[in-house]
Amino acid sequence: MEISQIIITEDEIRKRVAELGAQITEDYRDKDLFIICILKGASIFMADLIRQIKLPLEIDFMSLSSYGASTKTSGVVRMLRDLDREIAGKHILVVEDIVDTGLTLSYLRENLMVRKPASLKICTFLDKPSRRQVELHPDYCGIEIEDYFVVGYGLDFNEKGRELPYIGVVKQ
Ligand code: IMP
Ligand code: MG
Repeated sequence: MEISQIIITEDEIRKRVAELGAQITEDYRDKDLFIICILKGASIFMADLIRQIKLPLEIDFMSLSSYGASTKTSGVVRMLRDLDREIAGKHILVVEDIVDTGLTLSYLRENLMVRKPASLKICTFLDKPSRRQVELHPDYCGIEIEDYFVVGYGLDFNEKGRELPYIGVVKQ
């Protein structure tokens, strides 16, 4: 895998994550915040983000799959790992790496709403709004990008590139 261009640097990521953390801190003061991290891509973003949220919170993990080993969505979402705990009555913030077609999160939102949380919001690090196939508007978004396939900061191309500290475009 080759990177053709770095579109978001490590410094830019750090600055934006701090801003998101500050905003979430303000919005969830006096609420019990429960963060759901979508594996594997959002793990690095979530780890940085929760340290910028100056509130007590809980975390849990879910693993979904909408992609095979390719860069195109299949539209089919499978749940590979569910939450350990119940979320009824809790203020849920779903943390995702990137929203592309929106199919994954739209499935997840339906799935979680059935469990009757007190509230449900979505925080994504990256968003590619031009690719959307269903209506899905993240409540918090780090950075909007063009229709590039990117890796780094948790995002992968066939499981490679997650460890990169920046967001780079994959040379196809
Ligand atoms: P959606 O269901 O099309 O919104 O797909 C969301 C998922 O696709 C994300 O959680 C990523 O795992 C993956 N994805 C979409 N675009 C990219 C990309 O540019 N790089 C890496 N993964 C991506
Ligand atoms: Mg993902």
